[in-house]
Amino acid sequence: MASIRLLAALLAGLCVFTTTATATDVDLTARLKLVKSDTALSESLFKTGRKVAAVCAHCHGEGGNSVNAGIPNLAGQNPAFLIEQLRKFEDGRRSNEFMQGMIKAMNSDEKIGIVLFYSSQKVTPKPALNTALIAKGKTYYDKICWRCHSEDGRSDGQFARIAGQQPEYLSMMLKRYRAGSIMVGDPLMAASTRLMTDEDIEAVVAYVTSIP
Ligand code: HEC
Ligand code: HEC
Repeated sequence: MASIRLLAALLAGLCVFTTTATATDVDLTARLKLVKSDTALSESLFKTGRKVAAVCAHCHGEGGNSVNAGIPNLAGQNPAFLIEQLRKFEDGRRSNEFMQGMIKAMNSDEKIGIVLFYSSQKVTPKPALNTALIAKGKTYYDKICWRCHSEDGRSDGQFARIAGQQPEYLSMMLKRYRAGSIMVGDPLMAASTRLMTDEDIEAVVAYVTSIP
């Protein structure tokens, strides 16, 4: 019940932000491209995004650097990936009741603002703790994961940035993909995680979390 009250309070907060675009079927990719070509509009929507982010900060942290190991950083995330996740929450391909409610309450320019704001924030590097485990994880990463997420874990823009991501979140997502969970189903990630053991996941997570 507490979470429902929190959702209501946060959604009430979102309604404060009013912007121009309202239609739900706006093509976010095309809109982002257009916004980026217009400096004044871009700056204005960045500010909208920064305001909306005050609501998101309750969970995703200031500037998108989460302080909860189970909640993802949004800082430094690739725009194309953010847009795809917003779409997936909206149309139910990715299911998380709370996030779906948040995203459905935002209009398209608030979404573009969020993408502009978070993608330009810096990820706070985490100290590398267990060096033996990290080395083991790097070996695995360099065999499989780099092909889509790049050697530096930031991907070329098409896929998710995973460098510096929160450990429990990484581990949860890898297990969901491995299980072929319909909550986040993705054929590329299902194939990439199918053969991972729990020990492989633990090592890869230690490594990925430590990438600056
Ligand atoms: C009450 C906590 C909470 C709040 C507030 C919240 N989120 Fe989330 N968010 C989560 C959790 C938990 C997840 C992981 C969901 C899952 O299980 O897949 C998530 C996932 C996401 C993701 C996917 C990230 C990734 O790496 O795949 C995006 C994007 C996102 N949230 C954006 C937002 C935005 C934008 C706001 C503010 C408008 C917001 N969230 C507010 C808890 C929250
Ligand atoms: C063939 C390409 C490909 C390979 C190889 C690959 N991934 Fe992915 N990864 C993706 C795609 C595509 C997504 C986005 C899926 C989605 O939208 O849910 C993704 C998403 C993720 C996410 C979720 C990110 C987030 O913020 O929600 C994590 C974590 C991840 N991959 C880790 C890995 C790891 C670790 C490996 C190596 C074991 C790996 N990936 C190998 C394509 C790949």
